[in-house]
Amino acid sequence: MLIAQLSDPHVRPEGVLYQGVVDSNAMFAAAIVHVNALDPRPDLVLLSGDLVDKGTAGEYTMLRKLLAALELPFLVIPGNHDDREAFREAFSDHAYLPASGPLNYVAEGYGAVRIAALDVTLPGLHHGTVTPAGAQWLEEVLAADSSRPTLIMMHQPPFESGVPYLDAYLCRDGGRLAEVVSRHPAVERIVCGHVHRFMMTRFGGTTLCTAPSTTTAIALQLKTDALPQSFVEPPAFLLHHWRPGIGMVTHFNPIGAFPGPYPFA
Ligand SMILES: [Fe+2]
Repeated sequence: MLIAQLSDPHVRPEGVLYQGVVDSNAMFAAAIVHVNALDPRPDLVLLSGDLVDKGTAGEYTMLRKLLAALELPFLVIPGNHDDREAFREAFSDHAYLPASGPLNYVAEGYGAVRIAALDVTLPGLHHGTVTPAGAQWLEEVLAADSSRPTLIMMHQPPFESGVPYLDAYLCRDGGRLAEVVSRHPAVERIVCGHVHRFMMTRFGGTTLCTAPSTTTAIALQLKTDALPQSFVEPPAFLLHHWRPGIGMVTHFNPIGAFPGPYPFA
């Protein structure tokens, strides 16, 4: 099973630049063209939050317009820049989304890997949390079929990255998540967005990785007094490839056209 993960496109209303600097809409459109052209094609595309920047109706209208070009099935979760209710309204045709409360869901039927989406966002706040109810929900999902390979998707990552301005807004109470995940070895991967960078770490006995954004990258700075910055680095996405007997391999892929191909050996 092949799963593409696009994250943090920060779509703006038509004709408006993200941060007044970059055309996040055009960059998301380019990401969609890139994913559509993959061969083999992914079975599923995951969109791991911050689908828009301010949570306005005009942004969600633009988002759906851009997503109309995506020729593959896709699943969505909100990020801290989304507005939970506007998001729910914008994806009212996505029947897997619950009608109220956090947008937790389990999705099966796209391939061998089960997707468990855990909504750790807190409306109006930039950091997230794993609530006792969220952890309980996830425990029940995982216990329902303990042998099914599973990918958990959430927006804010539950670990300290070492980048101070990212760690101010991480997903708190990650211990609750680690406790659940450590009981379920079928969890192949936890995937997050939010940090606009690729990172990987061990978490709760599984592997956790974060996705780059399809627009700007948040600066990698590890000094404790570093000030927030972002850069227009090459945009990128992740491709999670699961095979029986092998497990999940995650590929980092820049989006765009690059020089080559050249002879390899
Ligand atoms: Fe973001």
